[in-house]
Amino acid sequence: MPKTIATLSEFKELWTMPPNFRISHDLYRPDFSPPSALEVLDAIRHDDEARITLLGADDPAVRTAKTMSFRSAPVEEIATWPFRLAHFNLPRLYDGVLRGFHEQVMVPWRTFLSAQGFTWQRCAPDLFISGPGGSSTYHADQSHGLVWQVEGVKTFHSYLAPDDAVPVESAISGDFTAEDPPPHDDADRQDARMEPGDLLWSHFLTPHWVTGESPLSMSITLSHGGLCQQGRYAERETALRGHWDRHPEQAWLTDLRNTRY
Ligand SMILES: [Fe+2]
Repeated sequence: MPKTIATLSEFKELWTMPPNFRISHDLYRPDFSPPSALEVLDAIRHDDEARITLLGADDPAVRTAKTMSFRSAPVEEIATWPFRLAHFNLPRLYDGVLRGFHEQVMVPWRTFLSAQGFTWQRCAPDLFISGPGGSSTYHADQSHGLVWQVEGVKTFHSYLAPDDAVPVESAISGDFTAEDPPPHDDADRQDARMEPGDLLWSHFLTPHWVTGESPLSMSITLSHGGLCQQGRYAERETALRGHWDRHPEQAWLTDLRNTRY
């Protein structure tokens, strides 16, 4: 079980290095009531930037047919299909299904960080919806994530000591990424069961995977890059910046928001 932190001093001490930790509502709580996952799914599936992946054991022809009809079939029906949907450009929805999100989530969160001496290059929300059995790939993000479970239940898995599982150079290159994690000792894993309202801090470039525990699930991750507190970056972001110093031709990749899910 991840530690839960409830004070500013703990947050400022622990944000730089794994393992992941929960954030108590005493420290921060999003003051926003999103529409239901079904309503968001119905709106967001029509947006060009929604990335939809059909999962499950259906034969490829069935998956293709479901993919083709994902935007037109009744939303109650597609919610029963095994799928995952990710959207990395939510401001497109601030005038629609996510009205109020900027004022009620992004402004207070950025203000919270600023008040603690943090600066950043990138701070933007990503949204994930999954159907029954929907799970993520095994990957790491070039981001610090404030993961907010909005609806349904998921378990967010990582390792207690990510350095032992995936060396930072491998996390940078992404060469370890797979559909599922490799065999590992259960004692090395950190499982965070996420129920509605729960918040988790996912550390920069640490390997993780998410499994769905309910038929329909929605989470929003506030994703940060270049996060810095009074001149100090997190350990794995420092390593990434060192890598960029040695490979300046690669640094531009960060502008692509190269998020994997
Ligand atoms: Fe991720």
